[in-house]
Amino acid sequence: MSNQISHLLSPLQWDGLSLANRVVMSPMTRARAGEEMIANELMAKYYAQRSSAGLIISEGTFISKEAVGWWQAPGIWSDEQVTGWKKVTTAVHGHDTPMFLQLWHTGRASHSDFLDGEPPVAPSAIRHAGDKIRTSSGEKKAHETPRALETDEVRRVVDDYRNAAENAKLAGFDGVEIHAANGYLIDQFLQSKTNHRVDQYGGTVENRFRFLREIVEACKDVWPSQRIGVRISPNGSFNDMGSPDYRETFTYVAEQLSDYELAFLDVIDGLKFGFHKLGEPMTLEEFRGVYSGRLMGNCGYEREDAERRIADGHADLIAIGRPFISNPDLVERFANDWEFNEPAKADVWYSFDAKGYVDFPNYEEAQQGELSESVR
Ligand SMILES: Cc1cc2nc3c(=O)[nH]c(=O)nc-3n(C[C@H](O)[C@H](O)[C@H](O)COP(=O)(O)O)c2cc1C
Repeated sequence: MSNQISHLLSPLQWDGLSLANRVVMSPMTRARAGEEMIANELMAKYYAQRSSAGLIISEGTFISKEAVGWWQAPGIWSDEQVTGWKKVTTAVHGHDTPMFLQLWHTGRASHSDFLDGEPPVAPSAIRHAGDKIRTSSGEKKAHETPRALETDEVRRVVDDYRNAAENAKLAGFDGVEIHAANGYLIDQFLQSKTNHRVDQYGGTVENRFRFLREIVEACKDVWPSQRIGVRISPNGSFNDMGSPDYRETFTYVAEQLSDYELAFLDVIDGLKFGFHKLGEPMTLEEFRGVYSGRLMGNCGYEREDAERRIADGHADLIAIGRPFISNPDLVERFANDWEFNEPAKADVWYSFDAKGYVDFPNYEEAQQGELSESVR
């Protein structure tokens, strides 16, 4: 591979952004922001270590207090949180790598333990039937029936997205990714399984899309559309998702988003993070047919498939998640055909401190035998 022209490692520019390659670091929650939910020096070090990516998308970041639903993940609603994130963007920009912030509201996937005893909010009062959730006490608890948002409250949540998008700008990010995937609040609105509303935000696919449309427009008040990305997961089952009309829904979503000329549409097309098995999975080729802008593929991609997707014109960018955890210099490894470190054990994914986070060696260090305890 190293003697051939690499499409994956070729640069890409748009709207003043300069990506050294097409490898995107996929958003990954790592729970290192402390109970105060403020990004910090440790996180700055972690992201800077991974700055060989063409673009970094931050871990999911709560837009408001009501959005919180993961123990020790960061937020972006307060001045202190903006200051914390500035440390990260400064460190990453020191390597000339652009970085987007992922805007997150967990909706029904949260728990009243995170919300001062109030139930989580959702489009409809339909309980998450999936695995238990690790709450703020660190304890695993069953999901609760959420409270359906009133119609005028939905507009207030849209304002929270606008505020978070503004804060992302103040914190020095190059853009935002709206997290409309993986069964969190926006996905709950998009999908018929979780949205049984009878107002203008429910029922038809046009209505179920309205919440995301208003969020995109709120972000456009702050950012040029070429600095706004959207993430969707048409095939996913994570967070008890999967609706029989998934193909109709996500085809419509992609068609509508096409008109906004966004930075990219990030589609979790791969099946290695859970698949709902309600029919044939939706593919990047299929999205190419209905979406005219930049497309990012994700999930389970290895070097060869990522290369092929871009060479075949099915994607412009490929987001890579888990391999970045234990290979901080992943892109150099791709470029030099170097072997990978052992995958990190899942028990360090969300384990609060430096161990299993910033202690994975780059290739040269690994050659010198500096193996992280987290991969032994
Ligand atoms: C530890 C971990 C945390 C994740 N956190 C997020 C997140 O905050 N936001 C998001 O959109 N996806 C999240 N994901 C999903 C990844 O972005 C990606 O879609 C998934 O890992 C599949 O890509 P991969 O096969 O390259 O790892 C997470 C995945 C992992 C393993």
